[in-house]
Amino acid sequence: MDDQLYREIILDHYKNPRGHGVIEDADAEADGMNPLCGDEVSIYVAFAEDGETIEDVKFSGRGCAISQAATSMLMELAVGKTADEVARMPRDELLEEIGVPLQNNPTRLKCALLGLTTLKVALHKAKGTPLPDGLAGFDELELK
Ligand code: FES
Repeated sequence: MDDQLYREIILDHYKNPRGHGVIEDADAEADGMNPLCGDEVSIYVAFAEDGETIEDVKFSGRGCAISQAATSMLMELAVGKTADEVARMPRDELLEEIGVPLQNNPTRLKCALLGLTTLKVALHKAKGTPLPDGLAGFDELELK
């Protein structure tokens, strides 16, 4: 796919975010913020009966097209995976989905990874597992 098509897909996710909303009484939940711009996402997860598989995941927040579109794409990627699979999901898996090269643009990279990092924090908090090195405080994002 060429860049133009990727850009259209990003805009589509931005305008029509998938999984936008809130899950009341979520099994896992976290808030993330990029302090450079103040953009925020909150992520809510509901597990299936096995307590591991992500049955539903939603986000709310506001921010730039990349942060919101990447989080929307992440919602589609995460459903049906286990908490463990998502906690170990390499960031490249999401970046490939986004498609537009961001590796050499640290500011945009932070935007793209805001949702994924917040989701990982939510899962680690819910499971009581320690955050892996480099995830807490990752790229100076504020996560709670
Ligand atoms: Fe704030 Fe993109 S400019 S997350």
